[in-house]
Amino acid sequence: MPSTPASSTPLNILFVSAEVAPFAKTGGLGDVSGALPRYLARLGHDVRVVLPLYRRVREYAQKHGVTFTRVLDDLSVQLGQRKISFSIIEAKLPGTSPAVSCYFVANPALYDRPGIYTQDPDEHLRFSLLQWAALKLCQFQRFAPDVVHANDWQTALMPLMVKTAFAWDKLFARTKSVLTIHNIGHQGGFSADLLPDTGLTEVKEHFHQDYLSQGRINFLLTGILFADAITTVSPTYAREISTAEHGVGMDPFLRSRGPAVVGILNGIDEDVWSPEVDALIPQRYDADHLELKEKNKKALCESQRLPYHPRAPMFGIVSRMAWQKGFDLCMEVLPRLFAQHDAQLVVLGSGDPKYEGFFAGLARQYPHKVAFHQGFSEPLAHLIEAGSDFFLMPSRYEPCGLNQMYSLRYGTLPIVHKTGGLADTVRLVRSTRTDQGGGNGIVFEHFDGTALKWALSWALELWGTGDGPDRARFREIQRRGMREELGWSRRVGEYVRVYRSITGK
Ligand code: ADP
Ligand code: GLC
Repeated sequence: MPSTPASSTPLNILFVSAEVAPFAKTGGLGDVSGALPRYLARLGHDVRVVLPLYRRVREYAQKHGVTFTRVLDDLSVQLGQRKISFSIIEAKLPGTSPAVSCYFVANPALYDRPGIYTQDPDEHLRFSLLQWAALKLCQFQRFAPDVVHANDWQTALMPLMVKTAFAWDKLFARTKSVLTIHNIGHQGGFSADLLPDTGLTEVKEHFHQDYLSQGRINFLLTGILFADAITTVSPTYAREISTAEHGVGMDPFLRSRGPAVVGILNGIDEDVWSPEVDALIPQRYDADHLELKEKNKKALCESQRLPYHPRAPMFGIVSRMAWQKGFDLCMEVLPRLFAQHDAQLVVLGSGDPKYEGFFAGLARQYPHKVAFHQGFSEPLAHLIEAGSDFFLMPSRYEPCGLNQMYSLRYGTLPIVHKTGGLADTVRLVRSTRTDQGGGNGIVFEHFDGTALKWALSWALELWGTGDGPDRARFREIQRRGMREELGWSRRVGEYVRVYRSITGK
């Protein structure tokens, strides 16, 4: 009999992800992978995080004086025709106490490239190596994971690997696996000719046979079939991806896993994303001192060379410029909004040239109202959250979304399409009376221009004159959002519950 009660037994968790903030991030996967392990460690679990040593990890480390320790050298793995050598380098995940180790898989030929993700023909190989290296690291450290926690397609072969290629090693005898789906739109689908490069030829019969006979392999599907538990990042998205409309072909497999599929809403990292402690904004503030938020609006205008108009509402966007994010609706609706209204907009993002071009054009057309910053900037992202009055997120689909939660936390009213995690976190303010129906933002139901137009008109009405009683009413909505419980400390227990349910610990 264990001497400690089952519910307090610490777990060994191997957490593997293609992105981990602050080292490597393109979106919310980085934020989640940088925060969840830290909160698990605070509960006493032994969490080890593994990601590739991308060029930008080196750059980050250099800039911020991160100390790297080389822990393993001259390792190799046979992937298809290639014997791939790698080493493992360790650094502490910043801000962790107790310290969480991040292990970086070093292979310059595969990872020393400009981006985290590439369109290169060896993308499957880059992430096959990550998975092999993570499990070999466990062997070298004699670290017996209770749970291997995989995230998205880049790590979704690990559940199968634990059950087959590594099953000979007693170290993994009790290991269970969790796959978290952050975005079902990306599945790691490749030609079956590349299967040998995964190093899993010998267990080929476990890949989905219909796919193989059609000449395809799909990393995410393999994870869905073999993970002991599957989580996704909001309850609504969990329901959505089990339907043909949103499942992107995975829905029958998810349905077949039934209760193994659970939706756990992401938390936000309140050490990084809170206006009371934010190190990246010029003026910190809280729900009782919302007048201080105004200084951030002023700083935002100055930084973007926009005139500062305290009575004009400021809209903010921080986003990957991708089809998912719904900017086609902005193209339909925003030009007229700025032609007719005294409102302002700051946009930060990069991606699809179609959307970048649209926002750049809008900024040229309305230079006193709209600014577009093309690129990736952590400080500007924080300043937009702190300095805007509204945050626009008209996503077509959104597994969870973090920016709408950051917005709530910063007293910036989110305007969102009712989908996925947006539907789970934003509630419509229904009236201009004082109770406002308990809402914390603006939600539109149908994904079309008319609905977005309605949402923006409603925003302008709620804003009113931006002064006097209108301002007082607006503040009440802001405060309601700021007081919501959005942090990881509320969520981490749900992951632990999943871990315990599959390990029986
Ligand atoms: P997704 O993961 O789909 O991109 P999320 O809302 O979950 O959407 O997370 C996006 C994260 O990436 C947020 O932390 C957001 O601030 C950040 N982000 C997106 N684009 C940029 C950018 N251009 N500059 C800085 N941060 C960005
Ligand atoms: C994905 C999703 C986003 C989610 C993030 C973190 O990138 O697009 O909605 O918040 O992962 O889970």
